[in-house]
Amino acid sequence: MTKPRIAQNATPAGTRLLGFGSTQGNRIVTNDDLAKLVDTNDEWIRQRVGIIHRRLGDESQTVVSMAVEAGAKAVADAGLTPGDIDQVIVATCTMPGGIPNAAAQVSDQIGIKAQSAFDVNAACAGFVYALSVASDAVRAGSARNVLVIGSERFQEWLDWEDRGNCIIFADGAGAAVVGPAEEPEIGPGVLGSAGDLVDTIYLREGKYIYQEGQSVFRWATTQIAPVAARAVEAAGLKLSDVDVLVPHQANLRIVEAIARKLQSQGARDDLVVARDIVYSGNTSSASIPLAIDHMRGAGEISSGDVMLLVGFGAGLSYSAQVAVCP
Ligand code: UT7
Repeated sequence: MTKPRIAQNATPAGTRLLGFGSTQGNRIVTNDDLAKLVDTNDEWIRQRVGIIHRRLGDESQTVVSMAVEAGAKAVADAGLTPGDIDQVIVATCTMPGGIPNAAAQVSDQIGIKAQSAFDVNAACAGFVYALSVASDAVRAGSARNVLVIGSERFQEWLDWEDRGNCIIFADGAGAAVVGPAEEPEIGPGVLGSAGDLVDTIYLREGKYIYQEGQSVFRWATTQIAPVAARAVEAAGLKLSDVDVLVPHQANLRIVEAIARKLQSQGARDDLVVARDIVYSGNTSSASIPLAIDHMRGAGEISSGDVMLLVGFGAGLSYSAQVAVCP
């Protein structure tokens, strides 16, 4: 008896980014505002972290509502309608309670009758994890167009008396749409974790984000540039092919250190580097798409630019991927 033959999905030649969208907390919070809450000052925060102001959500803005706003904008920017999207992935580490997830609500509220909707938690590395899963799903033919969103509302997870941590984080969401392409425009995701360093970022008293700042800083400035370089190699490119570097916006000094390291290894002097943290703060899984959306809006980057996206954070987790700007 001959075995029945299993059918698999028809597959496109490649995948690409089709559009972006973002939103931020409605409240602008300056360093001077924070100096009224904790023993800090504008000069320290600018010099050590690079933030001039960050944005926090008002009472109406939740992980879900910000994801809906950013996601709907990305679908429109892609020239698609909600009916064209068949998978929604929300990267988040600040969804209250964990159950229910964010993605099913986001999908419903945008009007997407998605065949699949799920959350990814790889903290600040989460957006590129989700993007990588999305690109692989489209490539494998299991989804046609995937909406990928990073959304975070940090303010309830911060101890507003802990000056080392409350000055860094912020609220916002960024989104991208991934679809099929005749020519590949998204490289393989390079994903990984360092679970032995789990104790360097955790929830203190089960409530407040706490990080051993210097340990994470050292790890990020020594271990992450090689991950970024591997993503470029995996895409079959050279570092000199990269036009735009978009690292997770954790600290401006980390962003600059990664850029310098890559430039010492062949990245160009005219590499455009995302410095969105200055006016957005650290929005974890939202920071990469938020930065890209802002840079596109400001005309700092253009369609066709080769972008190198690099995430890193709690877990510890890391991720890097090359993608062409839509
Ligand atoms: O997004 C997830 C991944 N996270 C990261 O990548 C974050 C990595 N780490 C960092 O960005 C930095 O380590 C921090 C921004 C968290 C801290 O900066 P730092 O330069 O490493 O400061 P530090 O913790 O070594 O503290 C230096 C000094 C200390 O005072 P003493 O002990 O030297 O007298 C702190 O108490 O600065 C003090 N300090 C502050 N002073 C004014 C800490 N926070 C503040 C503050 N204002 N907000």
